[in-house]
Amino acid sequence: ATAEPVVTTLARDLVDVDNGVISREVFMSNEIFDMEMHNLFPRAWLFVGHETQVADPGDYFSSWMGTDPVLLTRDVDGEIYVLLNSCRHRGMKVCRYDEGNTTQFTCPYHAWSYSMDGSLVNVPGDLFGVPHMKAAYNGKLDKPNWGLVRCPKVYNYKGLVFANWDENAEEFLDYAGDFHWWLDNLADAFDGTPGDTEVFHGVLKWRIKSNWKFVSENFLGDTYHGASTHASVEAVGIGPGGRGQRRHGERQDQGGHSMGRTKTSFRNGHGASDNIAYEIPYPEFVEPEMNEYFDNAWEVRKERLDAEGRRLGGRGPATLFPNMSFAAGFPRSILVAHPISATETEVWRWFLADKRAPQYVKEWLRQYYMRYAGPGGMTEQDDMENWDYATQASKGVVAQRYPYNYQQGLGTEQLSELDRAVHSNHAISGEVNARAFYRRWAEFVDNLSWEELTDLARSDDRIEAIIRREDAAAAAAAAA
Ligand code: FES
Ligand code: FE
Repeated sequence: ATAEPVVTTLARDLVDVDNGVISREVFMSNEIFDMEMHNLFPRAWLFVGHETQVADPGDYFSSWMGTDPVLLTRDVDGEIYVLLNSCRHRGMKVCRYDEGNTTQFTCPYHAWSYSMDGSLVNVPGDLFGVPHMKAAYNGKLDKPNWGLVRCPKVYNYKGLVFANWDENAEEFLDYAGDFHWWLDNLADAFDGTPGDTEVFHGVLKWRIKSNWKFVSENFLGDTYHGASTHASVEAVGIGPGGRGQRRHGERQDQGGHSMGRTKTSFRNGHGASDNIAYEIPYPEFVEPEMNEYFDNAWEVRKERLDAEGRRLGGRGPATLFPNMSFAAGFPRSILVAHPISATETEVWRWFLADKRAPQYVKEWLRQYYMRYAGPGGMTEQDDMENWDYATQASKGVVAQRYPYNYQQGLGTEQLSELDRAVHSNHAISGEVNARAFYRRWAEFVDNLSWEELTDLARSDDRIEAIIRREDAAAAAAAAA
């Protein structure tokens, strides 16, 4: 049994989504952070890594699920596992490397050894090992019961590996719901080949002095910040929007740091920019071979999707509840906000490319990603500066008495064609998405049962509110 946090607060009391008001304690309080670590992260589906990072038997990749270190591994049979990276003897981190290939993990402390599926295979002083140690366990250690803790639920969605510690959790495909259209745009190759993407090895990692939810929220719908925060990189023509660069005419308006895009918000807390559409704008490149590659891939994709009756999700930015954010379409990368404390987060960014893309395309993308992302990236450093200063200015005793405003687009939601989703055509009103995120967040953090959680996710209260509003407007118009 795990120790339960001493609860004096209810998350739902801090989140008033109907009026668009959210307490700063949600982002600053240690008590809330403890509740998140107990009630949300061990029950939510978390992104662990990409299957191409563990392409061969014996490959491993070190990751985190909340505050727990995990290993994504592939065993000799090609199976993928997610293991708690903590020795069952005294808890030593059995693997301290970021990634690699091995036949087994031997703990550096007393040398218990585990295979790639986590089984405890050798213990000095059990039966084998140094002769004078043989008496340590008298051959009585119950090795099958002392393997590395294996995550019970792992789901490989087109190469994206997700895991959940809770055996009773909703299945991944139900959890994602129609948000999978955005995951498809992330995981499928540009020409529509399912899952035909790979990550560039090496994950960009950095720490920020702010809460993990600042990051999730920024990606799930905050396109509002682009015009101010990223004005300088756009002004000099090196931002992702490509302003000041040569672009296809009809794509020009859709560029920018994802400014001016519609929003879709899911009852399970996921949120994204762009509705279902055929359009994934990509720039007109200076390099003719780049245009040739993308134009060709684009034509193939359109034909393939038409033929297969598939739709195309938006390109985002988007966040899969709670902490996996990404940009899909072009270019595409994944960003996970690993919680460290209430006011510290370790951000990881993975970069993707079509597996079959020629080297010049991968090289172009590599340079783009370096220019854009991380503390050295021209765009992303703007964001982290905001989050750090917002935290400094919000964690004071007096500051915490005053809530944040989430009233953008209140009451303007529209029915979405997607399941358990609402849509906002107000291109900037991403707080529609944030409100759904925090409502779901409070339901998890207050430790509602899976039965309650799934009932609430399936309830149509937002959709009913939209219908009531539309009916009332129609009645008022008829009366006038
Ligand atoms: Fe790992 Fe003792 S802590 S073998
Ligand atoms: Fe930004």
